[in-house]
Amino acid sequence: MNDALDIELIEGARGDLDEVMTSMAEAFDPAFGEAWTRAQCEGMFAHPGVWLILAREEARPAGFALARMIADEAELLLIAVRPALRRRGIGRRLLDNMVAIARERGAARLYLEMRGDNDAEALYLAAGFACVGRRRDYYRGGRGERFDALTLALNLGS
Ligand SMILES: CC(C)(COP(=O)(O)OP(=O)(O)OC[C@H]1O[C@@H](n2cnc3c(N)ncnc32)[C@H](O)[C@@H]1OP(=O)(O)O)[C@@H](O)C(=O)NCCC(=O)NCCS
Repeated sequence: MNDALDIELIEGARGDLDEVMTSMAEAFDPAFGEAWTRAQCEGMFAHPGVWLILAREEARPAGFALARMIADEAELLLIAVRPALRRRGIGRRLLDNMVAIARERGAARLYLEMRGDNDAEALYLAAGFACVGRRRDYYRGGRGERFDALTLALNLGS
């Protein structure tokens, strides 16, 4: 499993939601209810400033990231990689791509929110994000346990 993957990142659109939902269904632990429904994803495309990047491995769905701009702030709404392809750098490539697009679009900061115990925090901190907010007990797990929500931000200012 250490050979290089043939990963392509391409811009997606509402018409790519079948592909998005394939990765969504595998990537998010159902215990936390964090996966979006197809209707939620479709609804997001009604808003201006939304963009989607698809990761493909030899033309097959590997993951995706979805973000939006509001005024001069960008928000990473979702990022996901299929479990069989994790820890191979796809998440970091998706994240770097979202950062580059947010910068190109003139965002001053890129925000995201995550469950406090999500291992993805290591990915964000390595990319330069810092924790700027915490909402206590915001998430509830499948057995009723509570998790804080962390707001992370990356300054993009020139
Ligand atoms: C978060 C996610 C997108 C990361 O995708 P990925 O392709 O595995 O990430 P990468 O391989 O690019 O990881 C880059 C670095 O981030 C860190 N990292 C990523 N996943 C990690 C994990 N599970 N545990 C610890 N560190 C992790 C590591 O430092 C890693 O580098 P390394 O593998 O050389 O140690 C993926 O785990 C996922 O889809 N999770 C479920 C959905 C989710 O929770 N999304 C985030 C919501 S906030």
